Amino acid sequence: MNILILGSGGREHTFCWKLSQSPKCQNLYVSPGNAGTAAIATNLGIPVLDFKSIKVAVIKNNIQMVIVGPEAPLVEGIKEFFQSDSQLSKVSLIGPNSEAAKLEGSKSFAKKFMNKYKIPTAKYSEFTSSSLSQAFKFLETMTPPYVLKADGLAGGKGVLIIEDIDKAKKELKSMLLNRKFGKASEKVVIEEFLNGIELSCFIISDGKTGITFPMAKDYKKIGEADTGLNTGGMGAVSPVPFVDIEFQKKIDEKIIKPTLRGLKSENMLYQGFIFIGLINVDGEPMVIEYNVRMGDPETEVVIPRIKNDFVSLFQAVSNQNLKTIKLKIDKRVAVTVMSVSGGYPEKYNKGYAIKGLENIKDAIIFHSGTIIEGDKVVTNGGRVLTLTGLGNSMQEALKKSYNGLKEIQFKEMYYRNDIGFDL
Ligand code: AMP
Ligand code: GLY
Repeated sequence: MNILILGSGGREHTFCWKLSQSPKCQNLYVSPGNAGTAAIATNLGIPVLDFKSIKVAVIKNNIQMVIVGPEAPLVEGIKEFFQSDSQLSKVSLIGPNSEAAKLEGSKSFAKKFMNKYKIPTAKYSEFTSSSLSQAFKFLETMTPPYVLKADGLAGGKGVLIIEDIDKAKKELKSMLLNRKFGKASEKVVIEEFLNGIELSCFIISDGKTGITFPMAKDYKKIGEADTGLNTGGMGAVSPVPFVDIEFQKKIDEKIIKPTLRGLKSENMLYQGFIFIGLINVDGEPMVIEYNVRMGDPETEVVIPRIKNDFVSLFQAVSNQNLKTIKLKIDKRVAVTVMSVSGGYPEKYNKGYAIKGLENIKDAIIFHSGTIIEGDKVVTNGGRVLTLTGLGNSMQEALKKSYNGLKEIQFKEMYYRNDIGFDL
């Protein structure tokens, strides 16, 4: 089978690495792709929102399956685009339609869904510019810190957590009246602050059944000991040591089952990934957010622990046969440590040559922001590449990642030295 993966990050390189191991995979394409995917597949270079050019490439290359990495094409309706086109309707596209993708694309939609299906989450209220004074009153009833969320997609920047009420009011005003995040903040969700440790839960759903992947935890802050600005993710581990049998059972019963039941009740034929951002509040799992994709860099620790053939897994999603699949999990611990461009998540430079890749023996390299220039691999983004180590203990896995990182050099390279510190 010929397969196309949409996206260009570490998540997509991991899908590519996994699918390329399948005897069922003939020609593998990634679009736009990065230097890592170019080594094992053909990069097409088409942006993920250019549906018309994607269509041309799918037909030209006789592609039978498309795996959508990031959320944007899903929110923009790539599923419907394929389903409504007579030349594409037979292609298996892994990802939900735009209605279901609102679980990620609209915080208000997600909160209503959770309340309707009694899924534990923070208490909230939502406001628009015409209800600013009510929003201020609502803030005054809350205890700090105040959590303000732009309703729509805001490139991961739309959530503000603020200690001071006056500052919170000022930011709220700027979101609603001055469209701080554009259209995304025309509506704002204000919610209760939850205190606890976060973790990431991934499900693949065929519309009838869901299979839960191993849990993971990512490290979002740029600085060691979880300080500084939020990033896309600086590292991840799987499994998560504090998820014992009892906690896993609570996640299954209180969160996963009602989520899948809700999707069915709403007639959202959900064929794709569901990423549930969870928080452990005094031993109780609560939902922080839904995403309609895999996490990055969580994918880089979750997928290497799954032994199943991924083409078969995705075929089962398309054929609604997931109930026949049993996951085979590698018991080892996986960790990944992300190396980034100096300055990230703010301003950073690109175009630096990456050296030492050929010296990595004991870890898996997953590229994020990299590109090939001439005969060199050069940096092309904030998050550059991540090294995944597998080991019988977290220490052993970490050693493989960190030993590998010592071999790699590019100008202004930075990574956190404390991934896994809190576990
Ligand atoms: P979200 O985009 O909703 O995942 O929010 C981004 C990040 O903000 C989350 O990963 C949490 O670290 C934090 N966050 C969001 N909502 C809450 C909340 N209600 N309580 C505490 N932290 C939150
Ligand atoms: N690592 C978090 C995310 O992918 O959103």
